[in-house]
Amino acid sequence: MITFQENTDIKKFTTFNVPAVCRYFTEVYSLEELDEALDLAKEKELPLLFLGGGSNILFTDIFQGLVIKLNLKGITESEEDEDHVVVSAQAGEEWSAFVQYCISKDYGGLENLSLIPGNAGTSPMQNIGAYGVEIKDVFHSLKALSIQTKKVETFTPDLCKFGYRESFFKNEGKDKYVILEVSFRLTKKNHKFNISYGAIQEEFKKKDIKTPTLKDISEQIIQIRQSKLPDPKILGNAGSFFKNPVISLEQFQKLQNEYPHIPHYRLADSQIKIPAGWLIEHAGWKGKKTGRVGVHEKQALVLVNYGGATGKEIYLLSETIIQDVKKKFDILLQREVNIIV
Ligand code: EPU
Repeated sequence: MITFQENTDIKKFTTFNVPAVCRYFTEVYSLEELDEALDLAKEKELPLLFLGGGSNILFTDIFQGLVIKLNLKGITESEEDEDHVVVSAQAGEEWSAFVQYCISKDYGGLENLSLIPGNAGTSPMQNIGAYGVEIKDVFHSLKALSIQTKKVETFTPDLCKFGYRESFFKNEGKDKYVILEVSFRLTKKNHKFNISYGAIQEEFKKKDIKTPTLKDISEQIIQIRQSKLPDPKILGNAGSFFKNPVISLEQFQKLQNEYPHIPHYRLADSQIKIPAGWLIEHAGWKGKKTGRVGVHEKQALVLVNYGGATGKEIYLLSETIIQDVKKKFDILLQREVNIIV
């Protein structure tokens, strides 16, 4: 039997450290417990919210439904061929511990995604990515429970419809499935390193590392993240608050005339991705503090809670930033963080 807490603040399960009050809350450790929680929600006609590591969510008001924290644990492996192994993590496994597990076994593919906060189960939701790698690059499959049919379905990469910080589960599949387990196809040998990110190359050169190991890469990524991104245990935040916007080549050329040094990445179909951090910094927001909230001093993409803030304050700050960036660059920033209203 699972227990439910009523009118509880689950702030400690989220990384923004703002009040996060919900009508009902429960933690589930097995599929049976999840079933039980879903039955209760159905019976009481409660809206549902699934919580993983709470690292990409902002509560701006009381959630009038049932929050289910998924604590399913376990890592399993199955051989695929001589060069590959399929490693599966239950939804409640902490992402960065899972990455370290893979590195300790010398399985390659996830090392660039070291130290990303959150749980394995939510990693496919927004196709988490950093330093030139996204999970879709090594994704094998996932198992998800259909809330309507209560059947466990397997999703192959094409069914997940991964895009930049996007997936089926954030769009058509939203509120329809609960991800239970995620599997990755990793290399056992002949690892394909992705060390094209400038800061990684520079550091390896400095340290005279010519043939890095998975551990070297992971340690380097951890060092870069720690130097740029605030630790949620110290300063409440949810990583990138906005997505990097994609604009047309035509719009980009106009911008480039005015700002010749604007950083950019060329995508397919003449689309250009611009770092939102640059836009926010050049709209004058980097390191700015307003009351109890602000824009991180080392990475303008990250909004922070300096202590005691509410979700509404963070949200209002994001709204002002969106307006300023729109006014200055005619680009509409989109939030990456899930907002609970
Ligand atoms: N930049 C600025 N000012 C800033 C921040 C960035 O000018 O305050 C410019 C710089 O030119 C820099 C460029 O933006 O060279 C790119 O910055 P960075 O390498 O830090 O990456 P990002 O595009 O800002 C993305 C991800 C991060 C991920 C990094 C590294 C998104 C929304 N964010 O940020 O993801 O760690 O790349 O790969 O795509 C997260 O999702 O929570 C997250 C932190």
